[in-house]
Amino acid sequence: MRATPKEIDALLAADRARVIHPHLPDGVTDRIIIAEGSGCRVRDISGREYLDATGGLMLAHIGHGRREMVEAAAKQMSTLEYYSSFQEYTNEPSIRLASRLIDLAPRPMERVYFTSGGAEGVEAALRMARHYHHRRGEPERTWILSRNFGYHGMGYGGATATGIPVFHEGFGPMVPHVRYLTPPMPFHPELYGGEDPTEFCLQELRRTIAELGADRIAAMIGEPIMGVAGVVEPPRDYWPRVRELLADNGILLILDEVITAFGRTGEWFAARRLNVEPDLIVTAKGLTSGYFPMGAVLVAGHVADVLTREGFLGGYTYSGHATGCAVALANLAIIEREGLLAAAVEMGARLGDALRELEDLPGVGQVRQVGMMLAIELVEDKTTRAPAPVDWVPPAVREQSGVLVRNGLNTVLISPPLTLSPADADEIAEALAKALRSGRPC
Ligand SMILES: Cc1ncc(COP(=O)(O)O)c(C=O)c1O
Repeated sequence: MRATPKEIDALLAADRARVIHPHLPDGVTDRIIIAEGSGCRVRDISGREYLDATGGLMLAHIGHGRREMVEAAAKQMSTLEYYSSFQEYTNEPSIRLASRLIDLAPRPMERVYFTSGGAEGVEAALRMARHYHHRRGEPERTWILSRNFGYHGMGYGGATATGIPVFHEGFGPMVPHVRYLTPPMPFHPELYGGEDPTEFCLQELRRTIAELGADRIAAMIGEPIMGVAGVVEPPRDYWPRVRELLADNGILLILDEVITAFGRTGEWFAARRLNVEPDLIVTAKGLTSGYFPMGAVLVAGHVADVLTREGFLGGYTYSGHATGCAVALANLAIIEREGLLAAAVEMGARLGDALRELEDLPGVGQVRQVGMMLAIELVEDKTTRAPAPVDWVPPAVREQSGVLVRNGLNTVLISPPLTLSPADADEIAEALAKALRSGRPC
């Protein structure tokens, strides 16, 4: 049953008055109350349908409204909705999920630490990295290396590691002992002064290790393929070489796979695609496709052994949530059964090919695509590659074509469910072409 116009007005007024939305100034009065979802489509409360080309926030891998997921949650809730996972307490879905994740993970992952989402996972991984060294008798290893433009969620550790200054300004002091490095962004050669991006980044890493002292650095954290920065995949030799240098200096590598894990890149983990073996992997989003707020940190055996010997201190109320774990298992089963890794590769390429035709437009700098992770970088000028505003694109695409996209730093981000049909892929490409060809509305 649809809400009446009066009921909708009351909800809108209450939302404006009562809810704090991330990244929304009070002056913006527009609200879209999403009320239903099915497959790649969502509907707002007044019945308007949208094609969800963002997959919520890059997570609706299996699509919306799947009956099987409702049944998995209901079945688990009807026997045990939740119990603590602290100390010796556990539950069957969390045991099964941990084993499933280790089976899917690249070696040398051996243990799993459950969280309620990506930010909690990043916090846990940072704490684990410092504590690992502390337990091994190297308490001076406290520095964390992260990267400019990286995004690691909004816990204080993760927000500090996030290399985007607006998340620091006015929120400080941030967590101490975090150093920012340059990531390889091949579309921006100006960052590397004419040098090869990987060589530049490796030299900078070497210099930083020498300056801080290897015996004072706990870990480096990075997204294997940067998401919020606009789907930036590094050159193939970057991660293996970084990994080697870190290992030579006893520094742990934390890969933040919150966006990339569970099929978005066409692999269960981007680590495999990029041929890198991290010590910790942070996951969330696609773990449950958004049917439950949940994350998991995968920990290599040599790290876990040190951390768990005397018990790793600190957990979350919802760690190993029985219903969340049952939902995650059902979600992973769907991803596997429906071949969604291969689908991400195939449909992502179709969408990517269509969008790359927009590179002819003066305001489009580059279209980037890895599996079903896509970004269009807008520029003021093709030669300087200076960034152009992007915030006008999502509302324009939505109002003109009923397609939902979002904006990253200076890119339009596209990350639909992995169940996308060819017709849906074409519809997304047409919607973006229409908006970008007609340009910014006055
Ligand atoms: C790479 C990465 N890490 C961490 C996070 C934070 O995850 P969450 O929003 O679930 O806390 C995000 C969220 O987008 C992310 O993209």
